[in-house]
Amino acid sequence: MSFTVAIDGPAAAGKGTISRAVAAHFGFAHLDTGLLYRAVGARVLAGEAPLAAARALTAADLEADGLRSPEVAEAASRVAVDPAVRAALVDFQRAFAARSGGAVLDGRDIGTVICPDAQAKLFVTASAEVRARRRLAELLERGHATDFAAVLADVQARDARDSSRATAPLRPADDAVVIDTSDLDIAEAVAAAIAAIDARR
Ligand code: DC
Repeated sequence: MSFTVAIDGPAAAGKGTISRAVAAHFGFAHLDTGLLYRAVGARVLAGEAPLAAARALTAADLEADGLRSPEVAEAASRVAVDPAVRAALVDFQRAFAARSGGAVLDGRDIGTVICPDAQAKLFVTASAEVRARRRLAELLERGHATDFAAVLADVQARDARDSSRATAPLRPADDAVVIDTSDLDIAEAVAAAIAAIDARR
């Protein structure tokens, strides 16, 4: 039997951490759909055209080095505006969601476009300042030279682009449970997510 958990939200709200913890808790497979857009973005930075890159994507691309860099994140956010690029990535995501044994997909449009019939939908968010602080800590830990103002500007620019695009903009599905992690630690956020999913099982 398939059981799909859709987890959407803006960059650095805690989606990834919550998704991995939820998948481990329920024994579900997990797909970080941002990696698909990052892999396309990385191919575009290497000189490919966006649609050709999306169509040529392989599982190995998702393992490529450097997909977490700010440059690739920016390129991902840009290619994600293109409806043809998004359409080229739909089948892979839906097939993943339909696998037996349960699946967690996290992204921006999982509950609204990719899996509108998902059994459980969460929208994980936090203030831009809190998200920038978390992203800064991550980037510094990985050795990227940056500062709070630059990261906050990047978070705000990506929010604006992801929320205002015409195709599949970032927004909570009508039936999503919203979890604001601004004042929650990881354990509290994960517990809130598990409780929301349990309520749908
Ligand atoms: O979640 P992330 O930071 O890895 O996502 C990178 C970019 O990809 C993000 O700015 C918007 C885009 N994206 C999207 O449009 N739809 C998704 N389902 C996932 C990511």
